[in-house]
Amino acid sequence: MNPSPRDGTSGEATTSRRDTDRRSAARQEWAWGSEGDWAKVSRRITYPSRADVLALAVHLSRPVPGHVMEFGSWRGHSTRVIRDELWRSAIWDRSARHKRIYACDSFRGLPTVYDGLPEGNFATAVPTLHGVRIVEGYFEDSLDEKLAQEVGRVSLAHLDADLYDSTQVALDWLTPLLGDGSLLLFDEFAGAEPAEEEAFLLWMERTGIETRLLAIFGREPSGRAPTSDRRALFQVVAREELPSPRPLWPARVRRRLLASR
Ligand SMILES: C[S@@+](CC[C@H](N)C(=O)[O-])C[C@H]1O[C@@H](n2cnc3c(N)ncnc32)[C@H](O)[C@@H]1O
Repeated sequence: MNPSPRDGTSGEATTSRRDTDRRSAARQEWAWGSEGDWAKVSRRITYPSRADVLALAVHLSRPVPGHVMEFGSWRGHSTRVIRDELWRSAIWDRSARHKRIYACDSFRGLPTVYDGLPEGNFATAVPTLHGVRIVEGYFEDSLDEKLAQEVGRVSLAHLDADLYDSTQVALDWLTPLLGDGSLLLFDEFAGAEPAEEEAFLLWMERTGIETRLLAIFGREPSGRAPTSDRRALFQVVAREELPSPRPLWPARVRRRLLASR
C-alpha cells in the first residue's frame, strides 16, 4: 500500500473515497438533474410523458381503498388521463369501479407567481369532465370538513398546484384521509423552484407519516427555467402486508397462454 503523501491515508482509501464521491455526484445528477441541464438535452431525450406516469400511478393505486383526488386540474388534461385509465382498468377490475375522481381547482389560475409564471396563469373556464366531481374554489375554502366526510379515504392524490402554500393546504387536508398504501404523485417536485418538495418535506416533519419514494421521473421544466424538473411518486408505508396490483385480464391471459405452451 502506498501512503498518500498529502493526508497520510493509503492510496487505496483515497481512491475508494474518490469513487464514492463520483458515485454520489452521478446519482445526484441521475436522480435530480442539475442546474441548466434541460438547456443541454432538450428534444434529444424522451422522458416518460405525464400520461405514462399518471397511468402507472393509477395502476398502483388499484388495490388501495379510497378515491382519487387531484389538486390543480386547470383544463382537465391530467384529470382525463386519470379518468380514462380508471375506466380502462374498471373493465377488468371490479374494485376500480367504485373509485370516484375529484378535481379541485379555483379555475382562476395561480394565486401568486410561480417559476416565472405570472399570477392568474392557468385561469380558465370550468372544464366539462364526465364522471368527475369538480370541486371549484381556492383550496383554502373548498377543502373543508364536509368534503373530507364525503371522500372518506384517498387512494391516490395527484398534486399539481405548483405553489408551496397550495400544496401545503392540500396535504394538510389530505392527512386524515390517507391510509395504508395511499399514493402521492407530485408533478413538479424538483426543478428550479422546488415548492412542492419543500411543502412535502415540512408536511412529513409535521405529521410523522412514513412514506417511501417509489419512483421519480425526469420531465421538462415546469416554468421558464432551463433546468429539468421531476415527477415524484410516494407511498404511505402500510402497517401490514399490502397486496400488489394484479395484472389486468389481457396480460394475465397472455401469461397463462405462454405458460401452457
Ligand atoms: C399546473 S396547473 C394544473 C395543470 C393540470 N393538472 C394539467 O395537467 O393540465 C396548476 C393549477 O393549480 C391551480 N391552483 C393553484 N393553487 C390553487 C389554490 N390554492 N386553490 C385552487 N387552485 C389552485 C391553478 O388554478 C391551476 O389551474
